[in-house]
Amino acid sequence: MKRKQKIITIVIMQLLIVFCILSFNACYYDNEEELYPVDLTNCDTTNVAYKKTILPYLHLQCLNCHSTTTAPIYGNNINLEGYSNVKKYVDNGSFFGSILWNASYKPMPMDLKTDDCTILKIKVWIDNGAIED
Ligand code: HEC
Repeated sequence: MKRKQKIITIVIMQLLIVFCILSFNACYYDNEEELYPVDLTNCDTTNVAYKKTILPYLHLQCLNCHSTTTAPIYGNNINLEGYSNVKKYVDNGSFFGSILWNASYKPMPMDLKTDDCTILKIKVWIDNGAIED
């Protein structure tokens, strides 16, 4: 009788351990996007344009380090002042890659990732040909 109880206890313990591991993995594989889906239904991407959308963003988030005067000091000589300079980095993929914090590029701005709606607007601008409108 004692031996049987012991075996039952061990089996229950093992089941508990398996259960713990399974539930830990379940949490481990959850990702932020599934837990908190990004709601972009209120993100207005009509009338996205270089002067109206991209320029203010550059001034606010990038030109502190990437203007003609600041780039040599803070921005690794990457100049994002003026449309033709911006276009160069749009065309080689690093502009959007770094804003997306894509692993192949340096994350920009490095301290705070751009919000999803702004990222979507930049994407729309690029998909529409990244023109100087
Ligand atoms: C605080 C200064 C700072 C700010 C603000 C900043 N950058 Fe940078 N950026 C840098 C530095 C420094 C590098 C070079 C990083 C390196 O090579 O390690 C860099 C590199 C880059 C690169 C090249 C990335 C690559 O992997 O080739 C791009 C493109 C870029 N920045 C775009 C931007 C954009 C767009 C913004 C605004 C959304 C921005 N940066 C904001 C300092 C900054």
